[in-house]
Amino acid sequence: MEIKNCRKCQLHKNRTNIVTGHGPTNAETMLIGEAPGKQEDKQSKPFVGKAGKILTQTLENTGIQKNNLYITNVIKCRPPKNRDPNKKEMEACKQHLQTQIKQINPTYIICLGRIASKQLTGKNIKLKNKHGTFLRTTKEYGKKKAYITYHPAATIYNKKLKQTIKKDLQKFKQIQTLGQTQN
Ligand code: URA
Repeated sequence: MEIKNCRKCQLHKNRTNIVTGHGPTNAETMLIGEAPGKQEDKQSKPFVGKAGKILTQTLENTGIQKNNLYITNVIKCRPPKNRDPNKKEMEACKQHLQTQIKQINPTYIICLGRIASKQLTGKNIKLKNKHGTFLRTTKEYGKKKAYITYHPAATIYNKKLKQTIKKDLQKFKQIQTLGQTQN
């Protein structure tokens, strides 16, 4: 994947490393977060910092094998002070995510949080109403099954969400397992 030298937006100026993605390139499920944080920028790997630890623990608790997932973000470079990526940056980075989805061709995409859910589905959804459900990604992202849940970092400020994400992922696992047995 030719992302390594990307200079399509201003975020390349301050990055230590670009964080493309990690996991098997034939993964059935792709998990998409928002953008790399400090640790991710340092190690060039998604979800290795605080949010990553929460994610790993939640996956372990739900019996989803992290090693089977391809994990990436909407944005491949760290925004300063972990601010939300802006429209220009999201637009510039879009092509990379589209290419990843085309190449990996996952059956399922899990969108972690508002930014990923919006980018993939094209809808300004309320997580409160749509978490734990499937929506379709837009045509640009292959009209795939996108499963919506909260971002693990949200649990830092709202502890109750830990249980919510866990339940969402348990439900996802059941549906995924059912899909496998039916095929
Ligand atoms: N938050 C994200 O959305 N992605 C990461 O890789 C790390 C933290």
